[in-house]
Amino acid sequence: LANTFQGDGEPLIASLALSGLAFSATFSMIRWLGPTFIKAGFKGVDMSKHHRRELPECMGAICAIVYLLVVIVFIPFPFYKDIVAATSGGGNRDVVLHLEHVQQGRFLHRFPHSKLASYLSAIISLQSIAILGIGDDLFDIRWRHKFFIPAFASIPLLVVYFVDFGVTSIVIPIPLQPYLGELFNLGALYYVYMAGVAIFSPNSINILAGINGIEVTQSIVIALLLAFNDCLYLLTPYPHPATDSHLFSLYFLLPFLGVSFALLCYNWYPARVFVGDTYCYFAGMVFAVVSIMGHFSKTLVLLLMPQIFNFCYSLPQLFGLVPCPRHRLPRFNARTGLLEPSVTPWTPDRQPKPPVALVLKLLDKVKLLRVTLDEQGNFVETSNFTILNLWLVWRGPLREDRLAVELTAMQTVLGLLGLFVRHGLALLVFKE
Ligand code: UD1
Ligand code: MG
Repeated sequence: LANTFQGDGEPLIASLALSGLAFSATFSMIRWLGPTFIKAGFKGVDMSKHHRRELPECMGAICAIVYLLVVIVFIPFPFYKDIVAATSGGGNRDVVLHLEHVQQGRFLHRFPHSKLASYLSAIISLQSIAILGIGDDLFDIRWRHKFFIPAFASIPLLVVYFVDFGVTSIVIPIPLQPYLGELFNLGALYYVYMAGVAIFSPNSINILAGINGIEVTQSIVIALLLAFNDCLYLLTPYPHPATDSHLFSLYFLLPFLGVSFALLCYNWYPARVFVGDTYCYFAGMVFAVVSIMGHFSKTLVLLLMPQIFNFCYSLPQLFGLVPCPRHRLPRFNARTGLLEPSVTPWTPDRQPKPPVALVLKLLDKVKLLRVTLDEQGNFVETSNFTILNLWLVWRGPLREDRLAVELTAMQTVLGLLGLFVRHGLALLVFKE
């Protein structure tokens, strides 16, 4: 079969060029459209500043739209030679050579419809998540309801996966192989797992939020690490069998990086715009799309470690064991200008249930929470269960940009470690 995503780098150069364009388009559109967004009601108050100014919100919508236009314009590039070969036209020397190969019967040329289907279904998924995200920014849907939004957006992806690959078995680590065999077929459960990744990734980015820049920097770090991981496969001395899926992944990640860097220019401390839920969902879905289509969802899970921790840590509040206020972002101390952990207050008549109280005190002992008790031992307040607040419990009050830098550094270090584990230990635990 013809190599769909030609390994000669031309589409990659086109993708890089289009990503540069995506950066400039997003950069100027955010500047132009900010006031229009405020007028349309897309605005939010920056809570961690002395002057609680209203900033345009939902700028992720601009990113999503520019991104979608760019990946749509890009469609012909990776398929150029296949299109020409399939319609047997063309005058380009490469194409003629390519056609000669076809005629000489070195391979039977068939247009790679399944690759095109993957590409298109990825675009449909991303389009759906953009629409749902904008809906959320408009109507402020409750988290309980919006948690499952990405499940709908992942359907086109899962259908194409089912039709094209249908691989639902996982490789068993060598030490367990005597008991479980080399491969273990998860069957339908594999689809539940993939839908789970698609639901988790966008939501986990959305709840690691609340200080200037953090939504964008964490997404940029994850995208850069995924792109780095792709390059590892593309730069092998021999053509790696997974070359196609990693090129596919790069074609979706590069424009994402373009629009994200443009957004970061405005969203970094002191922010001039907010990203909105649209951006968080969109970013998470880009990661889910490339990792599901590229068969490396486990690598994505490794790169999402801080998000996974933040989600698990949030569970007591997400499930209502501890009250969950509308906003859990760190508290701004106007006197010092620094951020401190935000808290959930308790009153004498509303105290945690005894088992919950025990766990809360235990978490306080091991420095995973800050609990304030009064003289009678009643709960006065507990810090909110997010990694941002926990970081402030550990490090003491920090300025907003300092906190963002430290968390981004942590995300980078853990991500690199994750990739190291993936490639270093995988060799020990799995035969590659
Ligand atoms: C999620 C979090 C919530 C957190 C919020 C902050 C959960 C379950 N939900 O809610 O705890 O407070 O994100 O984004 O964990 N804002 C700032 N500074 C920033 C970013 C946001 O003040 O740097 C404020 C602005 O008022 C902005 C609002 O947060 O309008 C955006 O909140 P939104 O994204 O709608 O909150 P959720 O995603 O629902
Ligand atoms: Mg949000």
